[in-house]
Amino acid sequence: MKSAPVGYLILAIIIILLLSLSPPSHRNSNHLRVSRRLGHKHAPFDPLIGKLEILMEENGLKDEKVAGNWDMDESVSRELSESEEYFKEDGMLNITERLLNLFPLLDKFPQDGFINLKELEAWNVDRAVERLNYKTMKEMKLRDKDGNGSLSLIECLHPSLTNLERNDMAPDQVGWWKEQFRNADEDGNGLLNLSELNDFLNPKDSANEEIHELFLREKIRLMDYDKDGKLNFVEFREQAYKIYKTHAEYDYNGYDIPKPEEKFADLDLNFDRLLTVQEMLPMMHQLYPGEITYAIYYAKYLIREADDDKDGKLTIDEILNHEEVFYSKVFESEFDDNNDNDDDDDFFHEEF
Ligand SMILES: *[C@@H]1O[C@H](CO)[C@@H](O)[C@H](O)[C@H]1NC(C)=O
Ligand SMILES: *[C@@H]1O[C@H](CO)[C@@H](O)[C@H](O)[C@H]1NC(C)=O
Ligand SMILES: *[C@@H]1O[C@H](CO)[C@@H](O)[C@H](O)[C@H]1NC(C)=O
Repeated sequence: MKSAPVGYLILAIIIILLLSLSPPSHRNSNHLRVSRRLGHKHAPFDPLIGKLEILMEENGLKDEKVAGNWDMDESVSRELSESEEYFKEDGMLNITERLLNLFPLLDKFPQDGFINLKELEAWNVDRAVERLNYKTMKEMKLRDKDGNGSLSLIECLHPSLTNLERNDMAPDQVGWWKEQFRNADEDGNGLLNLSELNDFLNPKDSANEEIHELFLREKIRLMDYDKDGKLNFVEFREQAYKIYKTHAEYDYNGYDIPKPEEKFADLDLNFDRLLTVQEMLPMMHQLYPGEITYAIYYAKYLIREADDDKDGKLTIDEILNHEEVFYSKVFESEFDDNNDNDDDDDFFHEEF
């Protein structure tokens, strides 16, 4: 524990929680479904809040009483100390000041006094990647006993192997994890380095197509009524297209969404009227959205909420007029979580 402003931190955290309870406004019900998922996933707009969230996660919200004993990563602690200036005397985060200081960091491509969608997307994606990397680094530290920066299969699976024995799960699961490991292990040396471990832990956000294929095969298996390992048009329309449409409604703002026939024809590269795992690769991020996908949706959301003059980009005034939008956990509180969407996520995290 360094000289971090712990008193401020606690207050800031309480304020974040209060903010997260304020009801968001919705302009377009098309977005609700994706929005609901977004609320649980996206990294915060402000990296400082990201740091605070990590702290909260690592220490547990209930530990306010033992604040002095917070276990803080040194880099996190340093950064928070440096952010002390943003906290007002009563410990509240001065959001206005934060936004004024963040604005020039986003307004870069081009630097023109506006934040456009691309700039905001790039920023949010950086925040998501930052968070993923932080978590991966932590896992590496935890598992890499000899500190040589690479993990064997046993080291990667260790907690879940204990789990396996205890829960008497199907031996199949081990096979699945082994395959996931093999796919993540790009150079095939039987060990995962940091970037390979990142893919292993965050398959949906990885760019590794073999990992995607393993996931898509699983998904297709569930949608494939005639069990031929491929999707015909009816199988595609019944499930995969519905998921696609939910996302497309968000992406296209509800207009001009490709029809099932059109989307199917787009994907069916060899015109055999069947979609293979490889042909489904372009839909990976809709079927398995990861933090990066949500970061991009979040950028669209922020523009929609704050763009008062509807020119598709944000001025600092528009942002300051909608401060709370940038600092609330936008969707979380309005909808409950009895939703079918988190199935694969839970699968992944619980196993691990
Ligand atoms: C927050 O920061 C802004 C901009 O620096 C400043 O004008 C304002 O007085 C600050 N608010 C408080 C309550 O300190
Ligand atoms: C790193 O350590 C693991 C065991 O923890 C070992 O299997 C592996 O060979 C080591 N890797 C390198 C590159 O030395
Ligand atoms: C990990 O190994 C892969 C495959 O050999 C390589 O492309 C990548 O740059 C390595 N990453 C790190 C962080 O060393």
